[in-house]
Amino acid sequence: MFTKKTIRDVDLQDKRVLMRADYNVPLDDQGAITADYRITQSVPTIKALLEKNVRLVICSHLGRPDGTPTPKYSLRPIAVRLSELLGRDVQFVDDCIGPNVEKAVHDLQGGQILLLENLRFHPEEEQNDDGFASQLAQWGDIFVQDGFGVVHRAHASTDAITHHLPSVAGYLLEKEVDTITNVMDNPQRPLAAIVGGAKISDKIDILNKLIGIADFVAVGGAMANTFLVAKGHKVGKSKYEESDLGMARDILARAEEKSKHSRFVFYLPQDGVVATSLDKTASTRLVDWDADLISEVQSYPKAPDPTTQQVADNEMILDIGPFSAAFMAGGVQLASTVIWNGTMGVTETPAVHGPVGPFAHATEVLIEALTGEFGVRPFSLVGGGDTVGYIEQRKLTGAFNHVSTGGGASLELMAGRRLPGVDALQDN
Ligand code: ADP
Ligand code: 3PG
Ligand code: MG
Repeated sequence: MFTKKTIRDVDLQDKRVLMRADYNVPLDDQGAITADYRITQSVPTIKALLEKNVRLVICSHLGRPDGTPTPKYSLRPIAVRLSELLGRDVQFVDDCIGPNVEKAVHDLQGGQILLLENLRFHPEEEQNDDGFASQLAQWGDIFVQDGFGVVHRAHASTDAITHHLPSVAGYLLEKEVDTITNVMDNPQRPLAAIVGGAKISDKIDILNKLIGIADFVAVGGAMANTFLVAKGHKVGKSKYEESDLGMARDILARAEEKSKHSRFVFYLPQDGVVATSLDKTASTRLVDWDADLISEVQSYPKAPDPTTQQVADNEMILDIGPFSAAFMAGGVQLASTVIWNGTMGVTETPAVHGPVGPFAHATEVLIEALTGEFGVRPFSLVGGGDTVGYIEQRKLTGAFNHVSTGGGASLELMAGRRLPGVDALQDN
């Protein structure tokens, strides 16, 4: 349940509104926006505000320019995209405080939109500086927080600002917090969690939390490699984190303990797709360190060569294998609710033909299982910057129940941490 005031609970008619969005979107070398989900998801709040004829000033950060104006982190391209999405003009001003902004805000009419330049061009933003916040506060009569992706930071535009203006939530923030907390606190069971991506240390809190609440937890991606090493498997040159091995052992022990006392499955991949380079044309082979089936089939009618069950010293596991993907898909089909965070392999490597690269197959199988291609469609909650980026690239954001715009913010919320940018808003 969302306990903060939203734009539904305050009088906004003809007011000046300062809205915080998270328009920290990926840009290519030419500065073109490569994924605009965070922008499209802010549109419902903007439309609701414009219906009240507000003068709307929007602020955001982009990237980590560390307090210095940096052209490649300018929000100008965002104003262009937002204007296309809204079908109306979005003005832009080259700073977020100072005389140019003052003039632009002064000239703004009811129903017009002004986007400010990157907040992080000023070091005071990340310092949660009160003076900087009071300068920002001049641009509105009321503050609307809708940047879910950044509310885990206590910065001037998420925390200090709320000491200067009445502060409420926008629709995106409300929907994210409501959906994620409902799934974590009161899931329809069975609850399955599929966790992948890069590092255990990034997701240790959420892993621990999921082992606590879920009925089925499966690990993929490079994160699985660290678990495999902890279990004594050879992973060759695969990406894994030496420093996370202790965490991996602790988690394995916790999972084992839980399965002794309850119906609980903790699943690690039993096969992988390996190659000696990340190149899309690199030749791949399957290795099944636990299943033995691939090796049997590949060498039938002879006895399997032991190399088919072991990753060679110069090889890397770049995706989980077909058995593991199918097992996870089966787990997903038995669940009523699925939390998915982190890709199963290196989804960034492009294909020679078509959109799905050589190390994205397991992630694709998982997506099919989640979106009902195999008959059952569980409630799906998806998060993670790279994971959501891949789903966007596949144009599938609409195929899941909730695709979070937050990376770190969604992980922290799922792990049960307080979000300073939400705590600071007015209680309802
Ligand atoms: P998210 O941003 O979705 O939370 P992470 O940042 O934790 O996900 O991890 C995503 C990254 O993990 C991707 O860049 C992907 O290439 C990488 N990855 C997944 N599996 C592997 C693997 N087997 N080897 C190397 N990198 C991997
Ligand atoms: C994100 O992309 O996770 C948010 O925009 C926050 O950005 P940050 O990690 O640079 O604070
Ligand atoms: Mg990531």
